[in-house]
Amino acid sequence: MRMYDLIKKKRDNEENTREELAEIINGYVEGRIPDYQVSAWLMAVYFNHLSPGERYNLTEIMAESGDRIDLSKLDGIKVDKHSTGGVGDKVTLIIGPIAASLGLTFAKLSGRGLGHTGGTIDKLESIPGFRTSLSEKEFIENVKKHGIAVVGQTGKIAPADKKLYALRDVTATVDEISLIASSIMSKKLSIGSDLIILDVKTGNGAFMKDVSEAMVLAEAMIDIGKRHGRIMGAIVSDMNQPLGKAVGNSLEVKEAIETLKGDGPEDLSKICKTITSRMLQLAKNIEKAKADEMIDNVIDSGEAIKKFEEFIIAQGGTSEIRNKGSKVLPEAKNKESVCSNKSGYIKYIQTENIGLASMLLGAGRMRKEDSIDPSVGIVIEKKIGDYVEKGDSLAKIFFNDREKYMESVKLIKDSFEVSDEHVEKQRLIYKIY
Ligand code: URA
Repeated sequence: MRMYDLIKKKRDNEENTREELAEIINGYVEGRIPDYQVSAWLMAVYFNHLSPGERYNLTEIMAESGDRIDLSKLDGIKVDKHSTGGVGDKVTLIIGPIAASLGLTFAKLSGRGLGHTGGTIDKLESIPGFRTSLSEKEFIENVKKHGIAVVGQTGKIAPADKKLYALRDVTATVDEISLIASSIMSKKLSIGSDLIILDVKTGNGAFMKDVSEAMVLAEAMIDIGKRHGRIMGAIVSDMNQPLGKAVGNSLEVKEAIETLKGDGPEDLSKICKTITSRMLQLAKNIEKAKADEMIDNVIDSGEAIKKFEEFIIAQGGTSEIRNKGSKVLPEAKNKESVCSNKSGYIKYIQTENIGLASMLLGAGRMRKEDSIDPSVGIVIEKKIGDYVEKGDSLAKIFFNDREKYMESVKLIKDSFEVSDEHVEKQRLIYKIY
């Protein structure tokens, strides 16, 4: 097989067979096929796309390039969830304990934040003592015992995707839906869960800016998962403003704790309930009303927050979380408000810049090797459609370093647009699959 012919086929809008795709991917990982030829193939895919069959094959080949996590020895329905990423997205911290307290098995590999989006692993590491790196044996034992474990994803999961993604990143071929869908699903399929729920974010703080494209991406991923025998569900949800109020690691854990106790922000609580409800409906084959009632019950009875504490302690987190709750989390030394210079309705929030401002404060990293400050971040006090008086606080900045604060404050202020006209609240969920 000559790589030249495989590129030419895709350039001419023909399909690559499974064997051809395996040659491209494995040849690239093994170093037999150079960057420039794979780049040319990626660009041909960018323009001509992949058929559903090609997407299925590409995903499987990338998943097979690395370790697989076998969950078959675990009882119950193994559930997983994936978000395409956003600002203030602490959903995993909330839905994991809810799902586990309802008898689902939540075994999840999560990522760190990079750029303007946060990562679950960084959030969990803001809890003193919490270990995000467990051996596979410990991981499985924790899931068996507590119904939940969340660990960091290693480079051994779908390494072919890792190498291909790095090339896509420098050849302007990241934002092609078949490639994104195969990339995400190759990592999901490496873990033997029965049921996967996807939260595809759309808006100015998300990777997919356009709602209809987000739907196409959700449908492509659902198709790949179903072809691999997984039970699939998805939501397409809004990222035109941060989710909830808190952005930054310990601030987000605090908000997750409040939400698990039933006191969280409305949008965050709604997304978490919608995702867990979809999980329950699909896993237990029950109606939405029944699933919603079961979720409300574990939140109201305190079982959900108790499960959260059990999960944190099982992974080495301080046992003081039981009586002290979010008081065990690191707190920034200073806080200052960013105030509105006019009265009116919040019309627009530049969400990506809020994420970047949080990163500048030290909550995220620009490069993989940067270290982060778990205590810093932003609490958004006004959301789209809210009325604000001149001088009212739009957001509160939590910081330790005044220079970093100075860098972020203007970015936050400029992220809010205030209008004299009445503005409707932002829609939260565009579609449920
Ligand atoms: N996230 C991934 O894992 N892969 C992509 O291609 C895009 C986002």
